[in-house]
Amino acid sequence: MTTTTGTTTTTGAFGTARTRVEGREKVTGAARYSGDIPLPDLAHGWMVLSTVARGRVSAVESEPVLAMPGVLAVIHHENAPRVNLDYMGMIGKPDPIIGVFQHDRVPFMGWPVALVLAERPEQAREAAEALVVRYDQEPHDIGFTYGHPDMYTPPDSPFGAAVATKGDVEAELAASTFVVDSEYTTPEEHHNPMEPHAATAHWDGGRLEVFDSNQGSTMVAAELAQIFSLDAESVRVRSEHVGGGFGSKTTRPHQVAAAMAATLLHRPVRVVMTRRQMFSTIGYRSPTAQRVRLGADESGRLRVLDHRSECVTSTVHEFVERSATVGRVMYDADAHYTSDRVVRLDVPSPTFMRAPGEAPGSFALECAMDELAEKTGVDPIELRVRNEPDRGPVSGLPFSSRNLVACYEEGARRFGWADRDPRPGVRREGRWLLGTGMAAASFHSGAGPSTAAVTAEADGTFTVRINAADIGTGARTAINLIAADALAVDPERVRVVMADSDLGPAMLAGGSMGTRSWAWAVAIAVSELRERLALGGDIPPEGITARSDTTEAIGALASKERHSFGAQFAEVAVDVTSGEVRVRRMLGIFAAGRIVNPLTARNQFVGGMIWGISMALHEEAVRDRASGGLVSPDLAGYHFAANADVPVVEADWVDDPDPDDPVGIKGVGEVGIVGAAAAISNAVWHATGVRHRNLPIRPDRVL
Ligand code: MOS
Repeated sequence: MTTTTGTTTTTGAFGTARTRVEGREKVTGAARYSGDIPLPDLAHGWMVLSTVARGRVSAVESEPVLAMPGVLAVIHHENAPRVNLDYMGMIGKPDPIIGVFQHDRVPFMGWPVALVLAERPEQAREAAEALVVRYDQEPHDIGFTYGHPDMYTPPDSPFGAAVATKGDVEAELAASTFVVDSEYTTPEEHHNPMEPHAATAHWDGGRLEVFDSNQGSTMVAAELAQIFSLDAESVRVRSEHVGGGFGSKTTRPHQVAAAMAATLLHRPVRVVMTRRQMFSTIGYRSPTAQRVRLGADESGRLRVLDHRSECVTSTVHEFVERSATVGRVMYDADAHYTSDRVVRLDVPSPTFMRAPGEAPGSFALECAMDELAEKTGVDPIELRVRNEPDRGPVSGLPFSSRNLVACYEEGARRFGWADRDPRPGVRREGRWLLGTGMAAASFHSGAGPSTAAVTAEADGTFTVRINAADIGTGARTAINLIAADALAVDPERVRVVMADSDLGPAMLAGGSMGTRSWAWAVAIAVSELRERLALGGDIPPEGITARSDTTEAIGALASKERHSFGAQFAEVAVDVTSGEVRVRRMLGIFAAGRIVNPLTARNQFVGGMIWGISMALHEEAVRDRASGGLVSPDLAGYHFAANADVPVVEADWVDDPDPDDPVGIKGVGEVGIVGAAAAISNAVWHATGVRHRNLPIRPDRVL
């Protein structure tokens, strides 16, 4: 069946459930990840990280280590070639940690101080562990607190203004019938993609070639060219398969160290980060301390939304976890004040981590809304509906589409919300107290410039070439479906070539913008190709290729508020004897644009929601004030939800095509985690009558 939607003719491939095209390769072990690429004469690098939190490296005692079996070299600040870090990358200025071994200063515990190179990884590791590095230690400060005296307001960035205001907050608060004034904290949280960061670098005919685990080879190749002062054409980065990313798989120290070592040794070099090393080198989510003040009239209509969040960054790089920005989108109010402030401490630089800003920000805001529901006696869903904006509450811009109320309605119906007794602490089942809670979600929706090429081959098949990254999201499969749909052919006739910087520039897999950005470029190239094919004639042996570049097309997106939305529901049981919280079921209903592949989109939503369970109940990196380092930076000490913690999690969506996108996509990568922890926390309150404003909700905090 062929139907017409928007500008494209569809075969129905779009929106059909397809398993991953590379799924068989992955589950049989045939898929090669960047640490698996076999190259002749490969040497192995092992990173050595600082064991003090602040000071200078006074000596790197390489000599004894160089005598160990197989050891080839030790690179450190005294012998490393100088690199360039003065550039603006796709996601901002580089974090100086990626310019490895450039000086003797140590700005935090776990800073790269040396790379030991050997014939075999075991030899490199043994030598790295034996390497003596001496330091002149200085006092450090890692203590993040709300209202830290050095807290400052950062400059505005493309990711949002630090402060946004509307109306008179204090006057509206004074005039409010109901006021919520609460403080919330979220801990330091760490990325742990299943595949560690790994790069294999070598020089190939005058070009630096890197096999790397990343979210965007365009980004990494461009940065490596900048860092080593090479022509852009002299660097090629490929990332055929990537085992997870979510913000950390950008340009990090491992690619630079591998490329530097390959240059010095004149042979291929692989650097794989260990799980423990990743806790200080790949970025993480800053802890946050947030204060939310809500003022409402007698009907629950907001007069004030005041959300002030504080976070931490390192002394060498500014990254701000913009937790307060979510309120600028969610609720109307006569007065708004939202601010994100930051303090520089002797800790590693934080970075983007799934729903940066919205994840911790929605915890505070959506818990505060639940507290307001309790105070006003208005049902939590009804309260949110009463405060739905018809334009951006602060920007005044129209929404491209906002189907949040449809999410509430569908979610309430499926979850059985209508039967809910609002009173807290009154449902008991043996030693368990039971409760339900909900929260709203949003995540901004955008697109980045991309290029694509689509070829009609002489044998009747089609080849799509685009430098997309599949970090486990099913991007390769989505692109296959999008192209097949636009070409009006069976997906089996389309092959997708991707994850190679030689294919030309494209958006990274980040900001929930990957699939949308790539689909846009593919859609334009296909419509151009179809026009040419419509002229008739034979296809020559080399095929007929159409190319696209969306740089101009996506510029028009700025004129509206664009977001995915969602409604999260959770049911919990709280053990009154141990304080353990068990999530019994979760439901998320999303309005996140047109869904390309229901199978992998559901996987994204459910994955985000499970991460929300982790955020609510488990995840917490504890920093030791004495050493400045983390206590137990590994998967034994850093807890997240295991299978036994995950109940039935359902995700579904309402119809919500983006009206301004050629194929109607918005983005599904991040909205799934947003609001999930708040829904669980609100359910814990409903079960017990106690508010938990500090994550994670550990048993000792519940009792
Ligand atoms: Mo995601 S935090 O945009 O990789």
